[in-house]
Amino acid sequence: MKNKKQEVRRKYDATADKYDSRYKQIQFTKYREILSFIKLRSEDILIDIGCGTALFLDFLQQYDINIICCDFSYKMLLEGKKKHPNSCFICADADLLPFKKNSCDILTFFSILQNSPKPAITLNEGILFLKENGKIILSVLTNIFNLDDLSKLAKDVDIEVEKIWKLKIEDYCLIGKKKGSKLY
Ligand SMILES: C[S@@+](CC[C@H](N)C(=O)[O-])C[C@H]1O[C@@H](n2cnc3c(N)ncnc32)[C@H](O)[C@@H]1O
Repeated sequence: MKNKKQEVRRKYDATADKYDSRYKQIQFTKYREILSFIKLRSEDILIDIGCGTALFLDFLQQYDINIICCDFSYKMLLEGKKKHPNSCFICADADLLPFKKNSCDILTFFSILQNSPKPAITLNEGILFLKENGKIILSVLTNIFNLDDLSKLAKDVDIEVEKIWKLKIEDYCLIGKKKGSKLY
C-alpha cells in the first residue's frame, strides 16, 4: 500500500509542471457541469482533497468561498501555490488528514480515488471532517469504477446519495450528504 502511494506521488511530482496544460480544459468542463447542480454559499468551508495543481480553486475564482487545497504531491501543490500565493495548501495523505473534525461544509474528491488502495477508507477519513449534513462531491474515472461501485462505496461509508450520474465527459459523479460515520 505504501509502495503504491509512493509510486503515485512520484508520478504526479514528475509531471506537475505539465498538468494544467494537459487537463485544465477537461477538468473545468467537469466542474462546470457539477456546479450546475450544487449551490455554493460564501460562508462555506470547502476542502479539496487531491487538489493537484488547484485547478478547482482556479475555477472557483468567481465564487467567494473559503477553500483549503490538500494533496500529497508537493510538486503539484507548488504549482498551485504559484498561482494562488495567498491560499491555503496542505501537504497530506488523504488517508490521514490533519483537520479539525466536523469543520467543513463541502468535501471534494475530483479524479483522485483511482489512486487510492482502499477508496472506502479514504472517503471515511474525509467524512470525519465534514459537518453533519455537509456535502460531498466525488468524480471518478469510468475505466476504474462503474455506477454500481460508486453507489456501493457511498453506502459503505454512510453517504446519502443526492445525485449520481455520468458526466458529459469522462467521469461518473456523485453528490451526497454525510449521515453518520462508521469506524474502520
Ligand atoms: C488526477 S489528479 C486530480 C487533481 C485535481 N483534483 C483536479 O481536479 O485536477 C489526482 C491528484 O490526487 C493526488 N493524490 C492521489 N492520491 C492521494 C493521496 N492518498 N493523498 C493525497 N493526494 C493524493 C495526486 O497527487 C494528484 O495530484
